[in-house]
Amino acid sequence: MAFEKTFVMIKPDGVHRGLVGDILSRFEHKGFKIVALRMLNITPEMAEEHYGEHKEKPFYKGLTEFITAGPVVAMVVDGDNAITAIRKMVGATNPQDAVPGTIRHDYGMHTGRNLIHASDAPASAEREIPLFFGIDQILDYTHHSEKWVYE
Ligand SMILES: Nc1ncnc2c1ncn2[C@@H]1O[C@H](COP(=O)(O)OP(=O)(O)OP(=O)(O)O)[C@@H](O)[C@H]1O
Ligand SMILES: [Mg+2]
Repeated sequence: MAFEKTFVMIKPDGVHRGLVGDILSRFEHKGFKIVALRMLNITPEMAEEHYGEHKEKPFYKGLTEFITAGPVVAMVVDGDNAITAIRKMVGATNPQDAVPGTIRHDYGMHTGRNLIHASDAPASAEREIPLFFGIDQILDYTHHSEKWVYE
């Protein structure tokens, strides 16, 4: 097994549409462990750091306006192969390309309102987690059902 931590963020559309509980439940029901969780307003500076790789893209301005337009729910999720597995649960960037059963397909319509962010690689998770959480905010505990999730 390859246990890893990934950064996940429910974007302002997910919060305003009342989907926080449903989205969190999907990760819990799958067997992942939430090890850090906070609600916050992203500042323009944080948006620039988080989405800096897209600075030259035509959608960058709209993306940063959207991500700072309301509260987000940020979390660190822990589990076997978490980075790849959670990206699969999130689905394709454009909800219209996302496969049924994924979060972006099931709740979304357009790329600029795609509800959720998840780290796309170990290097992204290592960069993104410290933008939102101090080391003392990431909890180390054992799920009581761990032996019923992992063989
Ligand atoms: N062509 C586009 N038009 C509008 N918005 C876009 C477009 N491409 C990407 N975005 C927005 O920028 C975000 C970051 O794009 P990226 O290519 O990193 O996709 P992603 O990795 O699937 O999404 P995220 O990084 O938010 O998890 C997308 O989630 C979406 O909100
Ligand atoms: Mg991305």
